[in-house]
Formats: sequence, structure tokens, C-alpha cells
Amino acid sequence: MIYRAEGLTKVFSTGFLRTVKIRALDDVGFEVEEGEVLSIVGESGSGKSTLLRVLLKAIPPTSGEVEYRGRPLRSWKPLEYWREVQAVLQDPYSSFNPFYPIDRILYKTLEKYRPELPEAERVKAVSEALEAVGLSARDVVGKYPHQFSGGQLQRISIARALLVRPKVLLADEVVSMIDASLRVSVLNVLHDIREKMGMTMLFVTHDMGLASYIGDKVLVLYKGQAVEYGPAESIFSKPLHPYTQMLLASVPRVKERWRERVTSVTIEFSLAGSGCPFADRCPYATEACRTIRPKRIEAEKNHYVACHLYG
Ligand SMILES: Nc1ncnc2c1ncn2[C@@H]1O[C@H](COP(=O)(O)OP(=O)(O)OP(=O)(O)O)[C@@H](O)[C@H]1O
Ligand code: SF4
Ligand SMILES: [Mg+2]
Repeated sequence: MIYRAEGLTKVFSTGFLRTVKIRALDDVGFEVEEGEVLSIVGESGSGKSTLLRVLLKAIPPTSGEVEYRGRPLRSWKPLEYWREVQAVLQDPYSSFNPFYPIDRILYKTLEKYRPELPEAERVKAVSEALEAVGLSARDVVGKYPHQFSGGQLQRISIARALLVRPKVLLADEVVSMIDASLRVSVLNVLHDIREKMGMTMLFVTHDMGLASYIGDKVLVLYKGQAVEYGPAESIFSKPLHPYTQMLLASVPRVKERWRERVTSVTIEFSLAGSGCPFADRCPYATEACRTIRPKRIEAEKNHYVACHLYG
């Protein structure tokens, strides 16, 4: 078992004059076996990046448990953990130090995570990693992060993660900034590396088609809550949750309404309110849906759903 997460909750405190608490993850659980790909899907603001940041040890969860390879995540020392778990973040500009040229960043990555590699092999490893994502060493020498387009930098970010030869890749919208012609080749690179190295991957996307294409399992998030979770085949052949059904039917997305103004000094709100997170958009919503949060139940073998229509 690579990951086991249970009851994972993350509350952000924000605001200057007033404190507002945002429940970005709310009681999320899942399991990932070695070599598996878990697609994490949901619309903007559903908590996908927050979940990856918790799993990367970039931020601590507010409550809940995560185990990585049988040990609590908090017991792993950061460097020890990042040797095994690498991430490609959603915004590549924020994940590179703007003051260093890219070639230096890549060599430093090798120095830090694979110090045993001889000097000559470092040069080769960097060239190979760049070539795998459609770039060459000549493209990056002496150039700073701001001198690349978002798509180029995202590919460099993938190359940097692969240099470490991680057991696990946490990939946050890795192909959304890459143009269509390169998207397929980058996905193929990830596929080949996964096959060759047996890499486990957590693949965040808002694109349900891509999630099904990539994932062995799918976790559907809505307003921080896991509304459906199970084997990709089962979810795509028989989606149970009305939100998943809507995603699969490619219904155009509805923009969130403006929230009410904050009036008290500290307000904690769940992004979802007290009932089902999907109640204001669900065609089957009843009064109970608006007030009682549905429990997660196993409706089919290994296929979980949180909806009052089941169980
Ligand atoms: N550091 C933070 N401080 C306060 N609120 C935050 C912080 N990070 C995220 N949030 C809030 O948590 C919620 C989930 O955000 P998150 O970035 O995880 O969503 P997402 O699913 O990755 O969205 P997107 O598809 O747009 O990338 C949002 O309401 C967001 O505003
Ligand atoms: S619990 Fe109710 S509102 Fe939520 S998805 Fe199910 S039927 Fe719709
Ligand atoms: Mg995100």
C-alpha cells in the first residue's frame, strides 16, 4: 500500500481584519496501491491542489490520517520523503526559484536527491530527462524560469521530477498548460516511465475524459468532499453520484455565486454548507439533501458514493 488516507480535513484561516476559515478538504479518504494511478477530479475550488499539497508535506492537514508506505506521513523526514515522492505543481512559475538558471536548478536537484551519481552521468541524466519532455539541454542552458512559456516550464518541471526517479509522482494539472500537439507526447512519457519504473501516480485534472484515460481509480471531489470514489471502469460505466453523472455528460459548468458578506469576527464555513455539497445543483435534491450530509457507502464492490439516493 502506498497511501492510505482517512478523514482528511484541511481548514485554511484567512483574512486580515476578520478571520475566515475555509474548509478546503472535508473528511476525504482513499487508498492507493503501488503502481496504481489515482485520478483526482473536480471543478475549480474543489480541493484538488490542497489534497496534493497535503500529500507532498507542503502543508499539514488540520485533522485526519495519511499513511505513506505504512508509516504516518508526519513521521517521514522531508528529504527522505521527497526522494520518493515528487510533484509537478499546477503553477510552474511558483515552483522554480526565479533567480537561478534552469540548468543549475536541474543539476542541483540531482546533487540533492541523487548525490551518488557521478558528474558525467549527471549531464547525461539532465539531457535525457529534457529530451523525454521534448526539450534539449541547449534549450535551457543559462535561461531563467521567466524566459520560458508556461507550457515549456511545465515540461521542465516534469523533467525535474523525473530526474529524482521517484516512486510516486503527484501531478497537478500537468498538461493543462501544454498545447494539444505536445499533450499526447507528455502523457506518453509519463505512461512509459510508469511502465518502466512501476511509478505510482496521483493525477489531478478537471477533465473527466483525461481522468478516465489515465486513472486506475478515480476520486471525485466536490467542494472539498469526496462524493464518489472507486475503480475507473466502474465509475465510468456506472457513475452513481449525480455530480459524476453530470461531469460525464459534459454539462457546461455553472459559475459559483458571490458569497454573502462576512459579518462576524470569525466565521468558519464549509465550502459545502451542512447538507450534501451538490444539493443546489442536483436535479434529485430533496429537503433532506439540503440539511443532512450523506454518508459514504460502498454501493458496488470497492465503489463508494456519498448520496442519499443510495443506501
Ligand atoms: N492558502 C490558502 N488560504 C486560504 N484558502 C485557500 C488556500 N489554498 C486554497 N484555498 C481555498 O481552498 C479551496 C480549494 O482550493 P484548491 O486550490 O485546492 O482547489 P482546486 O480544486 O485545486 O482548484 P483549481 O482547479 O482551480 O486549481 C478554494 O476555496 C481555495 O480558495
Ligand atoms: S444527496 Fe441529494 S442532493 Fe446530493 S447528490 Fe444525492 S440526491 Fe443529489
Ligand atoms: Mg488546483
